[in-house]
Amino acid sequence: MDSHTTTVLVPAVGQSYPIKTGTGLLGDLGRLVKTWTPKAKRVFVVSDQTVAPLYAETACKALANAGLESTVFTMPPGESHKTLATLESLYDAALAFRLTRRDVVVALGGGIVGDVTGYFAATFLRGVPFIQVPTTLLAQVDSSVGGKVAVNHHGLKNMIGAFYHPKGVLIDTDTLKTLTPRDFACGMAEVIKYAGLEATIVGNLPSPNLFEVLSSLSRDDAPAMARVIEYCCYLKAAVVAKDPEERLGVREILNLGHTFAHAFETLSEGQILHGEAVSMGLYRAYILAEKMQTLPTGTADAVKRLLLQHGLPVHPAVTWPAHAVVDLMKQDKKVQEAGQLRFVLPQMQLGQVEIRHDISETDVVWVLDTCQAEAGVSPSAISGV
Ligand SMILES: NC(=O)c1ccc[n+]([C@@H]2O[C@H](COP(=O)([O-])OP(=O)(O)OC[C@H]3O[C@@H](n4cnc5c(N)ncnc54)[C@H](O)[C@@H]3O)[C@@H](O)[C@H]2O)c1
Ligand SMILES: [Zn+2]
Repeated sequence: MDSHTTTVLVPAVGQSYPIKTGTGLLGDLGRLVKTWTPKAKRVFVVSDQTVAPLYAETACKALANAGLESTVFTMPPGESHKTLATLESLYDAALAFRLTRRDVVVALGGGIVGDVTGYFAATFLRGVPFIQVPTTLLAQVDSSVGGKVAVNHHGLKNMIGAFYHPKGVLIDTDTLKTLTPRDFACGMAEVIKYAGLEATIVGNLPSPNLFEVLSSLSRDDAPAMARVIEYCCYLKAAVVAKDPEERLGVREILNLGHTFAHAFETLSEGQILHGEAVSMGLYRAYILAEKMQTLPTGTADAVKRLLLQHGLPVHPAVTWPAHAVVDLMKQDKKVQEAGQLRFVLPQMQLGQVEIRHDISETDVVWVLDTCQAEAGVSPSAISGV
């Protein structure tokens, strides 16, 4: 079995947990549950209707082989089910299963299953141990690391949530084989984002750097994918360790490309997936950096080539007037401070960023219009000027 263990340290809460990455690891779930939560007798597995038929049987067999009793709760897939209503069904099912605080909850699925299950585990009986088994690339490199768990409320994303860390994360890279090309590409957008943060997080750019590795990475090269996933977890963990509960602003760099992305995601009303919006946002962040002369010309083009190479769009299929995008950015409390937009701006070299508070609206509009012109739509035609 090809597996490695990375340990995430979260000093502020005196807790650390392992992230185990490798192929065929799902078959090892029972042994790992016994190692990470030795007192557990019952395992409450939460999955969704796409993932459960593919992987729940292997998971439950592995648990049974380790002498653990399990049940699978299957939720419908999709953001519209990341709700309090789903949580209520989870509480009912867990009561019926007689789940106790000595037992354990396993999240088997993408980021949606992970976020809902994590919040459920944080609140049921004031907290039941939980283990993440992320099955999408996005969940493996992003949402399963960092302890943020949440559900949506009244259409507002992640309105109700907590910080609740798992006892361990099991990443079986074999599960990626069944992911649709679109969902795989969405995960790659976050992976490419890490390439833009690498020097800032580790203090220098190793050779080869992540950007170079990704330039020749193929989805079919399972060992190389596993190494990249493990490295991304390491990078996110390094940021999270410095600011476990997001109080110092250190985690803000993880929002590279997300200021533009959130606006596109909202304007598209669900047509553009998060990772696709991040891809569009990353490209625009690099164009902005070139405009601000914090990066050599040509960097945005290199980033664009990498995004396209991994099947990601850099422009939305429909376009919105720049002022509509900027208005949305301004409403995003995460990016605004005293009337100024805050940006994670690439600087000096690919891999390095800084937080900037002094980006003018004019420059942001220029970036949006430049991209719209590149996409083949004249800015004046769409803004109606
Ligand atoms: N907690 C955090 O820090 C954090 C960070 C980033 C994103 N998120 C959240 O993550 C969610 C998005 O996660 P996601 O992109 O994984 O979406 P998702 O959970 O909806 O998964 C995408 C789709 O892939 C399917 N799927 C999952 N694994 C599969 C597999 N192995 N084979 C085939 N199909 C599979 C799912 O059923 C779903 O239809 C959002 O709700 C977002 O808010 C949380
Ligand atoms: Zn993201």
